[in-house]
Amino acid sequence: MTIWQPDLSRASGPIYVAIADAIAREVDAGILSPGAKLPTHRELAEGLEVALTTVTRGYAEAERRGLVSGEVGRGTFVRGGAGREATTERGTAPALIDLTVNALLPYAHAAQLTASMARLLSREDPIRMLDYQPFQGDERQRTAGALWMERAGVAASPSRVLVTSGAQHAMAVALSTLANPGDVVLTERLTYSGMKSLANHLHVRLVGLAMDEHGLLPDALETACRQGGAKALYTMPTLHNPAGIVMPEERRAEIAAIADRFALPVLEDDSYGFLVPDVKPLATFSPNVYYLCGTSKSLAASLRIGFLLCPPDMVDRLTAAISSTTFMASPPMGAVVAEWIFDGTADRIMAWKRKEVAARREVAAAVLGRFDNTGHPMAQHLWLELPDPWRTDQFVSQARMRGVLVSPAEDFVVDRSPPPYAVRVTLGSVRTRDALKRGLTTLAEILDAPAEPCRAMA
Ligand SMILES: Cc1ncc(COP(=O)(O)O)c(C=O)c1O
Repeated sequence: MTIWQPDLSRASGPIYVAIADAIAREVDAGILSPGAKLPTHRELAEGLEVALTTVTRGYAEAERRGLVSGEVGRGTFVRGGAGREATTERGTAPALIDLTVNALLPYAHAAQLTASMARLLSREDPIRMLDYQPFQGDERQRTAGALWMERAGVAASPSRVLVTSGAQHAMAVALSTLANPGDVVLTERLTYSGMKSLANHLHVRLVGLAMDEHGLLPDALETACRQGGAKALYTMPTLHNPAGIVMPEERRAEIAAIADRFALPVLEDDSYGFLVPDVKPLATFSPNVYYLCGTSKSLAASLRIGFLLCPPDMVDRLTAAISSTTFMASPPMGAVVAEWIFDGTADRIMAWKRKEVAARREVAAAVLGRFDNTGHPMAQHLWLELPDPWRTDQFVSQARMRGVLVSPAEDFVVDRSPPPYAVRVTLGSVRTRDALKRGLTTLAEILDAPAEPCRAMA
């Protein structure tokens, strides 16, 4: 048997990348077929006259791209089946169906949007566009942010709205202002993983509060407030990430009343609120809520614009936090977003997204409806509870072996209590409903088969 050996004579750049590129090329050309066994690391290293570690890195890179899978004790095999032709459309791992990124790009509008962006920026005064601008965003952008919030029902004057470099930055600005290292901040027991990493970065301790199918439990909040010491509550009452819950109105009123009673600042993350425009944000129940929203979910992630509403006496401190972290959000991007809010483009994109999410939810219901997935029908992610006897790591690993990436519950659990047996499955990260259906069908097939032990990944 001849040993497969790529021709790297014309490769430029690192050899390990060239090895992964060669595997990709030959898989595409049909020279390496699904299931084919690749040479051992040592065989290939000897054949190419390179270090063993270079081949190991090359295979790891090919595995990261979803081209091959390594099976301990058996070798490295060309992957086949579900994921090969489906792409993440993000240019990173073309062979995998990546259902971990929680964003739906405005595919239907991409070309018009880039054209309108170019038109708009060419109309602007170039010198002004290239210069520093007020740290909190210029008047026009803050007015656009206030208008956006008002459309969501939140009374916002531009003087209380700050423009940030995305929602994550708004969270960083608020958290670093409200809490010092070592302080406690409350949140739902399951929370957005970006808040976990932010708290970790700022050395702030998150304390997870109990939830039920309607979200954060008022009793749990009240008990934590009575214990004292917490500097803020970070919460996602609308389309909670990952649980997909929309908190009912009565509960919002209760949560706001408790926070007001204990003078606890609340940071409401309404990143997904645009998907359910009739739901009233928590900020409509109390003027003391810091309300944040961003363009990553509602428009497009690369714009990196967020809006943060705060009490009037906090404007200066939060502006200082913006200036000390990024100086200001990118003015050209802020100008584009403001224009799209004023001229109705933003509304059109959000309307398209609502339709697309609804259609993708239908695909999900048809394929995975018989499994337990809680959450609101407009959430763009599923919280899939795994049937007995599946363990989360086992399921995530099997899905990965079959070319589908999902996020384990561990990513979202705040404290060290045992995470539920569940995964988050995003519906927007692949470009087509067809690719989504293939990914979800693979997940359903895995759940339908008896749980196999995890096969360790090299
Ligand atoms: C709940 C929540 N908040 C904030 C963010 C961060 O958004 P941005 O990309 O605007 O920083 C995300 C991104 O996944 C999110 O899910």
